[in-house]
Amino acid sequence: MNYLSDEQTAIAIENLNLYYGDKQALDDVSMRIPKGQVTAFIGPSGCGKSTLLRCINRMNDLIEGCTVEGKVKLHGGNVYHPKVDVATLRRRVGMVFQRPNPFPKSIYENVVYGLRLQGIKNSRNLDDAVERSLRAAALWDEVKDRLHENAFGLSGGQQQRLVIARAIAIEPEVLLLDEPTSALDPISTLTIEELINDLKTKYTVVIVTHNMQQAARVSDHTAFIHLGKLVEYADTDTIFTSPIEKQTEDYITGRYAD
Ligand SMILES: Nc1ncnc2c1ncn2[C@@H]1O[C@H](COP(=O)(O)OP(=O)(O)O)[C@@H](O)[C@H]1O
Ligand SMILES: [Mg+2]
Repeated sequence: MNYLSDEQTAIAIENLNLYYGDKQALDDVSMRIPKGQVTAFIGPSGCGKSTLLRCINRMNDLIEGCTVEGKVKLHGGNVYHPKVDVATLRRRVGMVFQRPNPFPKSIYENVVYGLRLQGIKNSRNLDDAVERSLRAAALWDEVKDRLHENAFGLSGGQQQRLVIARAIAIEPEVLLLDEPTSALDPISTLTIEELINDLKTKYTVVIVTHNMQQAARVSDHTAFIHLGKLVEYADTDTIFTSPIEKQTEDYITGRYAD
């Protein structure tokens, strides 16, 4: 994967080390994540998948005692450069977590939340953004007649699609998904997986998943992480059919107790 040119690369991670206090959680990770495709991080629980994902939009900054060395370049610019405005970075890199976290507001207000923060007031523009984002999140048809009802009335799977709609309403460049379906039933999971496939036409998607079948279904490229190290990173077919590293093979064949 490291053959990707700068032009093809959305995120270039270079010699990244991360420590929680004096405990090292990421060990010299370097990788290039391609634009407009889906990249999955897999590996046993506690190996550093979420930590690596959170480096891309500096969510680890919020954790006390966390220190980072190395670079994460988003379309060429290092997100850890001291002049980077973190709020702007997080507008460029949206994030969706394991549990759906809609705000206690209407469906409509959830979607326009980020736009209102940007000062957009024109109701035609907001209405258009709501329809566009909900359509892109495969939720429009289910909610178009109840936009002003509270988001908590939606099912878990609908709430997660609403959160995705909220993330894409502000048109980020990258979407980070941290185990986005692990709290959902199988049907909602399938809907979200189909949605991820559609999203990559417009966004670079990085997904952490605990579920190897899911990685195989949704991703173009897969990175296997173990004990904070990037063990192997290649196109998804290669990782699942002919991995080079024994550790990867042991993991994908289920030889790790997890
Ligand atoms: N906020 C935190 N403070 C201290 N240690 C943490 C924190 N978050 C994660 N860790 C530790 O860092 C390692 C990687 O965790 P994490 O990135 O959450 O793994 P994964 O997402 O692969 O399950 C684990 O050993 C975990 O205990
Ligand atoms: Mg995690």
